[in-house]
Amino acid sequence: MPVISQKGINMPESPIRKLVPYAEAANKQGKNVYYLNIGQPDIKTPQVALDAIKNQNIETIAYSRSEGAESYRMKIAEYYKRNDINVSHNDIIVTTGGSEALLFAFGSIMDKGDEIIIPEPFYANYNGFSIASGVNVKPVISKIEDNFALPPIEEFEKLITPKTKAILICNPGNPTGYLYSKEEIKQLAAIVKKHDLFLIADEVYREFVYDGIEHYSILQEPGLEDHAIVIDSVSKRYSMCGARIGYLVSKNTEFITTALKFAQARLSPPTLAQIASEAALDTPQSYFDDVKEEYVKRRNILINALEKIQGVNVAKPNGAFYCIAELPVKSADNFAKWLLESFDYNNDTVMVAPAAGFYSTSGVGLNQIRIAYVLNEDSLIKAVKILEEALKVYKD
Ligand SMILES: Cc1ncc(COP(=O)(O)O)c(C=O)c1O
Repeated sequence: MPVISQKGINMPESPIRKLVPYAEAANKQGKNVYYLNIGQPDIKTPQVALDAIKNQNIETIAYSRSEGAESYRMKIAEYYKRNDINVSHNDIIVTTGGSEALLFAFGSIMDKGDEIIIPEPFYANYNGFSIASGVNVKPVISKIEDNFALPPIEEFEKLITPKTKAILICNPGNPTGYLYSKEEIKQLAAIVKKHDLFLIADEVYREFVYDGIEHYSILQEPGLEDHAIVIDSVSKRYSMCGARIGYLVSKNTEFITTALKFAQARLSPPTLAQIASEAALDTPQSYFDDVKEEYVKRRNILINALEKIQGVNVAKPNGAFYCIAELPVKSADNFAKWLLESFDYNNDTVMVAPAAGFYSTSGVGLNQIRIAYVLNEDSLIKAVKILEEALKVYKD
């Protein structure tokens, strides 16, 4: 039997998807499952993007340029300019989703055995991308009682070694929904400059910020040009997860030149999806206003309902469409399985993501779950009711 790699063995399974077989079994039993576990928005893709695909008449679906179509990159640069971020199309590489942008960023700045510091809980695939790149994650714990704000900067400093290459943040955060303040970004900027590190900001949820607070990008921070790398994506912004388009943005030309070599090795990002994504940049502001209003409504319903359940503690998110809730259970993993296998409320149940998989420190977040508020108001209310009823009868 040929032997597979240690890296392959070490690749973590997705904490979001690992309960899928249990959900399938629940469906087979005839139960209706409310999916609170996955960040697939139920929002419609903007019509301009759909029309661009329907109305194009190309005869050959050719490769595009490895860095992405120039017209698209120029329009992305205009988008950033409208958002007070001064970048040119030469600072942008279009990728196959934000996922590939992360892989290219890791590959371009880190070698085997290098270290990256990430506040946890974090987007679980950062673990997978780190393992694939041979990189070690050094987590800094952020706490539910602080709403998952940036941990004290000294905690980052303590972890910096000669092998440290970068700090990675997700802003606003998945799974926390936390939006970093300008002040927090300035603290991170100071530390990466002091130790000559890269600062990677995953800003795929940058449009989803609430309560009148403005998003402050690391690309807006003066003096950070050589350090800042932004990961972006059309997946959530335009509800185009299946388009598989994202991008890397950096003013550091050496970084961009290096990342371009990774881009050339995989030839091209998807051509048709770039046409849709370019058109999506003409989405009227009213679309975003409506989407934001919908998410704020859902968030408020969800948080209010969760706060009323005895023993549940929830962090209030200012961005993205996730929140972390602490439950009065020992193992959220067992609870999540039990919900699917052994519980129903009027034949309905819910699927949640146990949050331990979003931490890289073992034994942390065991009683926490991540909830994605990507369901409509009615379904959200029903889903939280099911959680409430389940917690009344569940025994660890
Ligand atoms: C924080 C974060 N970064 C990156 C991604 C990757 O998204 P995509 O590859 O669809 O652009 C996701 C997807 O859920 C995410 O939540």
